[in-house]
Amino acid sequence: MRLYLDHNATSPLDPRVLEAMLPYLQTQANASSLHAAGRAARAAIDQAREQVAALVDAHPSQVVFTSGGTEANNLALRGVVGAALMHPHHQPRLVISAVEHDSVRAQAQALEQQGVRVQALPVDLLGRVQAQALADDSVLVSVMLANNETGVIQDLAPIVERASALKIPVHADAAQAAGRIPVSFRALGVQMLTLSAHKMQGPQGVGALVVDKALDLQPQALGGPHERGRRAGTENVAAIVGFGKAAELAAAELSERAAKMRARRDQLEAAILAIPGWTLLAAEAERLPNTTLAACAGIDGETLLLQIDAAGLAVSSGSACHSDRRTPSPVLQAMSVPSELARSTVRLSLSPQTTAEEISFAAQVLRQVSEPLRSPAFQALGF
Ligand SMILES: Cc1ncc(COP(=O)(O)O)c(C=O)c1O
Repeated sequence: MRLYLDHNATSPLDPRVLEAMLPYLQTQANASSLHAAGRAARAAIDQAREQVAALVDAHPSQVVFTSGGTEANNLALRGVVGAALMHPHHQPRLVISAVEHDSVRAQAQALEQQGVRVQALPVDLLGRVQAQALADDSVLVSVMLANNETGVIQDLAPIVERASALKIPVHADAAQAAGRIPVSFRALGVQMLTLSAHKMQGPQGVGALVVDKALDLQPQALGGPHERGRRAGTENVAAIVGFGKAAELAAAELSERAAKMRARRDQLEAAILAIPGWTLLAAEAERLPNTTLAACAGIDGETLLLQIDAAGLAVSSGSACHSDRRTPSPVLQAMSVPSELARSTVRLSLSPQTTAEEISFAAQVLRQVSEPLRSPAFQALGF
């Protein structure tokens, strides 16, 4: 048996999404062309824009399609903070959290090298961002809605309240949240929201930045009027159509999917806690219904991961995005997780299709792999 429990890294394409995409892969047209085929492609994009907007309670005109969550995060930061940098004698401040995805963290570091002051909001031991007083020279606050490694859902309300009092725009990365928990752009009160299709059983390489039209966002891709001048480039019609379909299905099935995943996740966590040596991280925080971060203290996460994989179970150590990194993830460091424990973490992320039998198999693999690795004979080898 092979079981895939790495849906936070990428979730396999829903067959209904593939079916919606196929006609646009078979007949390719440029949505900017004025002929009938071009107009059909434009209509398909417009429909997808409505489907994506509906999932997150936004207006379709606020949706800017991008090549994914990474580009959306980069556009949000660079498009607002980069613009502020152009004012002479101004050293703008960017506020992020200590647990952001690399696409926010790396862009913040790049902006820092250009003179932006970057402030990182700390998190508590469960990975929850701590709202702090904001300096009035802040030009953007960027805090994720749900964390990719821990699944922890952030309470953005106190942050949005402080920021809006100072008229500072807020960006939230909802790449992992959308399609798994209810997300309302309006109710969150943020000015930008990042989405990624392949985390909700849509295609890879497409996402969106939902943008409040009153916000002064400088486009980063130049060379055409696409996406209302906010992101130039010929649209990837088939991918956008797939994103729209995935969003429509996620919206229609949201509560049913969440209930299924939560039940399986709880089953998994109860089973993990019954295996000697295993613990759960951030389990007491409000979390996505599909994500479990577990650790088997004293066992190197990578050794564990490879043996788990060999036994037929695909999971991730920390975040898949930095599976080549040997140091503990910055997220776990920010949560003050001791490095020995942080190095032993395994992330299991479920889909709505994950079954009770599959969870039993996963727990059996974790037990079968970790027992010998925990044995005094193996530990004596110095692993
Ligand atoms: C929280 C978060 N933001 C952004 C991204 C990047 O999205 P994409 O893979 O679509 O570029 C990811 C992907 O892992 C993510 O987990």
